[in-house]
Amino acid sequence: MLVTLKQILKKANTENYAVGAFNINNMEICQAIMNAAVSQKAPVILQTSQGAIEYAGYDYLKALAHTAAKQKVPVVLHLDHGRDMEIVKKCIKAGWTGIMYDGSHLPFDENVANTAKVVKMAHAKGISVEGEIGTIGGAEETVISREIIYTNPDVAEEFVKKTKVDTLAIAIGTSHGAYKFSGNARLDLHLLKIIKQRLNMPLVLHGASGVPAWLVTQAVRYGAQLGKPEGVPDDQIVNAVKYGINKVNTDTDIRLAFDAAVRKFIAEKPEDFDPRHILQPARELIQQVVEHRMRLFGSSGKA
Ligand code: G3H
Ligand code: 13P
Ligand code: ZN
Repeated sequence: MLVTLKQILKKANTENYAVGAFNINNMEICQAIMNAAVSQKAPVILQTSQGAIEYAGYDYLKALAHTAAKQKVPVVLHLDHGRDMEIVKKCIKAGWTGIMYDGSHLPFDENVANTAKVVKMAHAKGISVEGEIGTIGGAEETVISREIIYTNPDVAEEFVKKTKVDTLAIAIGTSHGAYKFSGNARLDLHLLKIIKQRLNMPLVLHGASGVPAWLVTQAVRYGAQLGKPEGVPDDQIVNAVKYGINKVNTDTDIRLAFDAAVRKFIAEKPEDFDPRHILQPARELIQQVVEHRMRLFGSSGKA
């Protein structure tokens, strides 16, 4: 069933687990995530970046999510890193049930003003909003930030009071993409504890992919050129959930699984050019990766 972001995160906050938010860009990725959600009996957030909307279009993405929502687990269709007001407005109108407005690159007052405007528009339609304060590092196609600026608890408190967001993305050391740390991976869990105590609301962790070594090894074995990728270790995700994270974003691990599976199939079966045969192992591998993450977040069995 299709639910709002607020509904899905309220339960997670009360029961101290996190809901997985996974980026969808095509049908196979969406199916893989839903197969995992159904097998784990887990609530799930299907999120679309502005890049995904540009690639697949509103109608196809909406149709995928609304089809997914026929399953017996709670599903949110969420805009990830909305920065363009026109896209935000279109998603609100088109039936998304969660909106992230990302004004983290703007001066504080501008971030507050824009986020509050989005909250007003979305709440009028019963749709929930995620805001962001501090900046998560890394570079994706449409989400670029060179440095990590850790979230200041005082600033976060003022931001929430002024904007009335339903949930907040905080920066505690993670970054987007496959190259998160050089050296020791460490999240500032002490800062997380302080923010949670102060705000007492659902919190979001972006840039949370684990970049599992076995997946990197498979992709590289079949020709991927990946340098020195590094993700957030599983035990640190478990601790982040323990100390108050209720939504964990994952995209990079899905991309890696897709890439590793497609490369393997094409290398082993060069004579087979049926796209269904090529994409089926990708769908299966993504499902496996997503199931593992749902267990990690404590969301298995919570649907
Ligand atoms: O946080 C960013 C997501 O991984 C989406 O990336 O803008 O390349 O679709 P994208
Ligand atoms: P990863 O790049 O770590 O998967 O993070 C994705 C994300 O935060 C999407 O908003
Ligand atoms: Zn993100």
